[in-house]
Amino acid sequence: MDKSKIVLITGGNKGIGFETARQLGKMGYEILLGSRNEKRGLEAVTLLKKENIKAKTVGLDVTNPTSILSAVEQIEQEYGLLDILINNAGVFLEGNLTLNELELSHLRSTYETNVFGVFSVTKAMLPLLRKSSSGRIVNLSSGLGSLTLNKDPKSEFYNVNTIAYNSSKTAVNALTVFFAKELSNSPIKINSVCPGFTATDLNGNSGYRSVKQAASIVVKLATINNDGPTGGFFDDDGVVPW
Ligand SMILES: NC(=O)c1ccc[n+]([C@@H]2O[C@H](COP(=O)([O-])OP(=O)(O)OC[C@H]3O[C@@H](n4cnc5c(N)ncnc54)[C@H](OP(=O)(O)O)[C@@H]3O)[C@@H](O)[C@H]2O)c1
Repeated sequence: MDKSKIVLITGGNKGIGFETARQLGKMGYEILLGSRNEKRGLEAVTLLKKENIKAKTVGLDVTNPTSILSAVEQIEQEYGLLDILINNAGVFLEGNLTLNELELSHLRSTYETNVFGVFSVTKAMLPLLRKSSSGRIVNLSSGLGSLTLNKDPKSEFYNVNTIAYNSSKTAVNALTVFFAKELSNSPIKINSVCPGFTATDLNGNSGYRSVKQAASIVVKLATINNDGPTGGFFDDDGVVPW
């Protein structure tokens, strides 16, 4: 394995992002741990270093263009390229609001991070990813973003009508498809993954999966070979319907 590969994980200071950093770090990848809060980023990096993982923080608020630009500049200056981008940062802001209670502002603020953040960071990092011989992008989506599963009464997602979050993940899947088409003549591969319902702060730790289980699909798609898929949507069981 090429041990010099550089990985940027947005929202890497906790939850699935942090565990992804841990798993990739254990495999020998060098971790750039994106964190919008410097202290939380440094604390997370300290934990990784205790496990002999090569890691450093990159200040990165995915909703802030200045922050994104300075992250690009930092990576450009220190490494000159980026091998793997994991668009992990995400928010779930609507709680149990019904459609009647949901305000446009909930959609706007959810999309700001979950959709526009993914678009902005991906676009900004593309020149660095193009300098890698095998760039990879993984977008953290969710089965809740699958329109097919949302319409299927037999699906575990059928009764979870959290419109802002679900539709933001549907939009992330759309970004995956369109970026994959745009990048089809390059070595870069981009895929969406569903980590499953995982116990993290995002859901008050109510998920039934561990971060260890959740991160494995992220790691899998981040480390696919050159003959691996692009423009797809995957979970532990394989392809997830759009
Ligand atoms: N948990 C699940 O069941 C589940 C299921 C499917 C998909 N996902 C997706 O998996 C991803 C990770 O979620 P998680 O469950 O690990 O949640 P989490 O524990 O709440 O972690 C979310 C991370 O995103 C960061 N973040 C939020 N807004 C940000 C911004 N504007 N800029 C930069 N970082 C930001 C948070 O930073 P702070 O610490 O500063 O808040 C935190 O590091 C999300 O995209 C989520 O939608 C989760």
